[in-house]
Amino acid sequence: MHRSMVFLLLVIHKAAALDNGLARTPPMGWMSWERFRCETNCTRHPDACISERLIKETADVIASDGFRDAGYQYVIVDDCWLATTRDQSGHLQPDPARFPSGIRSLASYVQSRGLKFGIYGDIGTNTCAGYPGMQDNFQRDAQTYADWGVDYLKVDGCFADPTQYNVTYPGLGLALNKTGRAMVYSCSWPAYLPDPVQTSYQTPYKELQQHCNLWRNWVDIQSSWQSLSTIVQFWALASQRSKGFTEVAGPGSWNDPDMLIIGNEGITDAQAGLQMGAWAIFAAPLIMGNDVRNLTASQRSILLNKDVIAISQDPLGMQGSLVRCPGGCNSSQIWRRQLSTGIAVAFINLGSSAVGQVCVSPADLRPLDASALMVHNVFTGELTTHQQRDLCTQNIQPTSIILLRISEGTPVQGSIAPLTQAFSYQARER
Ligand SMILES: *[C@@H]1O[C@H](CO)[C@@H](O)[C@H](O)[C@H]1NC(C)=O
Ligand SMILES: *[C@@H]1O[C@H](CO)[C@@H](O)[C@H](O)[C@H]1NC(C)=O
Ligand SMILES: *[C@@H]1O[C@H](CO)[C@@H](O)[C@H](O)[C@H]1NC(C)=O
Ligand SMILES: *[C@@H]1O[C@H](CO)[C@@H](O)[C@H](O)[C@H]1NC(C)=O
Ligand SMILES: *[C@@H]1O[C@H](CO)[C@@H](O)[C@H](O)[C@H]1NC(C)=O
Repeated sequence: MHRSMVFLLLVIHKAAALDNGLARTPPMGWMSWERFRCETNCTRHPDACISERLIKETADVIASDGFRDAGYQYVIVDDCWLATTRDQSGHLQPDPARFPSGIRSLASYVQSRGLKFGIYGDIGTNTCAGYPGMQDNFQRDAQTYADWGVDYLKVDGCFADPTQYNVTYPGLGLALNKTGRAMVYSCSWPAYLPDPVQTSYQTPYKELQQHCNLWRNWVDIQSSWQSLSTIVQFWALASQRSKGFTEVAGPGSWNDPDMLIIGNEGITDAQAGLQMGAWAIFAAPLIMGNDVRNLTASQRSILLNKDVIAISQDPLGMQGSLVRCPGGCNSSQIWRRQLSTGIAVAFINLGSSAVGQVCVSPADLRPLDASALMVHNVFTGELTTHQQRDLCTQNIQPTSIILLRISEGTPVQGSIAPLTQAFSYQARER
């Protein structure tokens, strides 16, 4: 692809994103909810209760075990960090037993590890777990977060009127802006609105893009294949049916299919690879919802795969689009994502039997010139050359992905593996 074309794409892509300078690529990090939920009993669960100890130990591992250097940056406390009431002057305060040093100190600890600190609030009267919400306190609470040194704020939508989100979420965004401290603003806004796949509801993507850095589109993910596959199905159907869904994503504004469940029980390594690869193609935030202190070697290598992360974090920031669904979007999907150099193509098999052969044509690979292509399978590391005809993969294993990065040119002599049929990502045993 010509340099001028990349430039043109960048220009066309520049739209009215939230102007706080943040989340220029999909945010990467860790959040407490998926694995640790609302565990508040530190007597019974000292290692797993929502507490400053959990957050500090997680930050230590993210900094020391390669995650920070791979790009995982935000360490985010989800619900259940708050005391049950505000303090006497009306400010939010953490649970004093579980966060005895306070949030300012915890944020500093995380930041001293070269990371960024995130926290959770709710747009309504209460958080989803029942702690104090931010309603009627936007400016005061935004200032509290700014004073504490918060870098990222997830704002849930419980105990509030969804028909007012188009007023409340922008209002809180303005309050955050007024503090003068730039904070990534994660909105749960569309997750509480009608499903744009099952209904004719038009999700307000323009407003989301203007007011939030990322937003949860749909239901919460759970640590199961059933949940993961349903979200991947939703993503394909939304790409087909929900006007503006693909185009809205770009530097500063991202659709969010929810946390990575990689590292938790409930999925195989092949399914973990599928989530990692699909989230990269989707230009989705890569927020781990696991226990980073306790991962297997294969879970770690999936999460740290630098070639997959490079697709996710491509500076062009274009969300992947659905090419087609051979045999129905609920069983197999082909995706492509335009990158600043080359494109990524994913073959996803959601079904319980292997898929024989799936192909993309030279037209599907445009704007690449198919006369000389390099094809890099980012999970197996295999590098092959390709010319002109259809590019096919064979024997895609059940519940797995094949993720290719394709670019123009001829590789350096000697760096090419023979063309084989063994494209598919083979899961390692735990
Ligand atoms: C607040 O918004 C203005 C105008 O959009 C922007 O220039 C500025 O960088 C924002 N500040 C913060 C802290 O987000
Ligand atoms: C926490 O767990 C301990 C030990 O199992 C139990 O005795 C205590 O009642 C629990 N506290 C609460 C508040 O549930
Ligand atoms: C907000 O949404 C409500 C209900 O969907 C609608 O009636 C109202 O006009 C919208 N307000 C704005 C400012 O867009
Ligand atoms: C496809 O998956 C979606 C989401 O999981 C589901 O709502 C729908 O019923 C499925 N369609 C078919 C034909 O199975
Ligand atoms: C680590 O994971 C193993 C296997 O899933 C589990 O048995 C063990 O209890 C975990 N350890 C901690 C500290 O969570």
